Amino acid sequence: MDIVPLGPGFAAELRGVTLSDIAAEDAAYAAARAAFEEHSVLVFRDQDVTDEIQLAFSRRFGPPEVTKVGSQGTGSHFVILSTIDADGNVVTPDHRLALRSKANQLWHTDSSFKSVPALTSILSARIIPAHGGETEYVSTRLAFERLDAASRGKLENCFAWHDYAHSRRQIAPDLASAEERAALPPQCWRMVWKNPVNGRGAIYLASHAYAVEGMEGAAGKQLIDEMMAFATAPGASYLHQWRKGDVVMWDNRATMHRGRPWPSHEARLMIRTTISASEADGLGSMRRPSSQAAE
Ligand SMILES: [Fe+2]
Repeated sequence: MDIVPLGPGFAAELRGVTLSDIAAEDAAYAAARAAFEEHSVLVFRDQDVTDEIQLAFSRRFGPPEVTKVGSQGTGSHFVILSTIDADGNVVTPDHRLALRSKANQLWHTDSSFKSVPALTSILSARIIPAHGGETEYVSTRLAFERLDAASRGKLENCFAWHDYAHSRRQIAPDLASAEERAALPPQCWRMVWKNPVNGRGAIYLASHAYAVEGMEGAAGKQLIDEMMAFATAPGASYLHQWRKGDVVMWDNRATMHRGRPWPSHEARLMIRTTISASEADGLGSMRRPSSQAAE
């Protein structure tokens, strides 16, 4: 297995290994897992991906999420990110599916609004547009390490509230349905996720974050906005241009990502599997002390 660096200080392509190898062989998994902890974004090219292979690969990293209400693929282990309707036609730009892909174009980390956040997301390209539709990544670990010591210390002791409805509201007022809002109450997480393998911290934020625990509303929002802008400053991203057969996985603890636009008449179909974070992934220290005590 060769590791080829791709981005500015993070992201790498793994060559000479397939998803099936990693699903089947402990040694291949151990090498891929070490690369994941180190590089945060891993790219696999020219893969023969089926849903079964993607899920078997994903399960190596932990328990797969069950897709939430209101998403395509609900109740399964797959999130279907598509702009194709039931009749096989590409939807118009004002269609709910198009608005949802627009919401994915806000900088975020997956599942920070869930009661168990995500360790990693695995995304495979099934139908890709000829132009655009890239996925752009930043390392919130490198961003954290660019902060001065005082800011790092402050952030480590701050907790932010995350709400799915908050990010969706930025696109359209009712994009999160009543059913989704009821199923996804706001969650509170420490603003720094420390990787237990290498001890490196990362800013943990997303477009879902709307308030900081114990801070007045405007001040909390300002801190979130400043940290989001800092982490996503131009020049620090890796832009993944999708090719057929590509699979990309990323560490939701140490990155943010966003989809990039593409011509609305072109179809795009991506399949995501998402693995929940566990205590071994550092989840325990992300909870507020009061909620830790209550559990
Ligand atoms: Fe995402």
